[in-house]
Amino acid sequence: PVPVITIDGPTASGKGTVAHKVADRLGFHYLDSGALYRLAALSALRRGADLNDEHALAKLAEHLPVRFDGPVIMLANENVTEAIRAEEVGNLASKIAALPAVRQALFALQLGFRKAPGLVADGRDMGTVIFPHAKLKVFLTASTEARAQRRYKQLIDKGISANMEDLLSDLKARDDRDTHRAIAPLVPAEGAHLLDTSNMTADQAIAEVLSWYAH
Ligand code: CDP
Repeated sequence: PVPVITIDGPTASGKGTVAHKVADRLGFHYLDSGALYRLAALSALRRGADLNDEHALAKLAEHLPVRFDGPVIMLANENVTEAIRAEEVGNLASKIAALPAVRQALFALQLGFRKAPGLVADGRDMGTVIFPHAKLKVFLTASTEARAQRRYKQLIDKGISANMEDLLSDLKARDDRDTHRAIAPLVPAEGAHLLDTSNMTADQAIAEVLSWYAH
């Protein structure tokens, strides 16, 4: 069977960087499942969808005209690589991710990323719901402050102005929604290795995951 490594964790825990680099090092494919929820959210905003209509949102998610072109993400004919990273889109993504029909709509799309020689899947429920039989499961965490600092630095580096207090409160709201929702709540999968990266560099975290995989 094609090996899968799942990397789950809260917002701004460094999952994206770690998962991406681990995939590169192993020559594996990479699934950024959060991007799918962000794409569904962006698509809903663009189309002015009724944000209370679960069925309509699920339909949008099921028929997302998305194409992954290396690091570039295309929605229909538009390059939305940057647009889906907006805080507004992330916040809406976390809201619609609590809707069972939306999660169901994205299920098959996610399974399709499992291709030889292997897959690194990054998200909230990769190890619990989507790939419960993954060869290696990792749950990445970091303190709230460390995560807010990282998000702050990411935004400033991109030339986007940011306010630490707003970031902290958004992050806590997002954590709260992701952890307490009824469906696919953010919890470590059975058998997951826990990795607290508060005081680790990305390279150290990557090395740790690679060594778990090798053993
Ligand atoms: O960048 P950040 O970690 O904040 O978010 P993301 O990984 O891009 O995911 C955006 C939102 O989608 C999260 O807040 C989750 O609520 C949701 N999500 C999910 O429910 N399940 C996943 N497998 C991935 C993301």
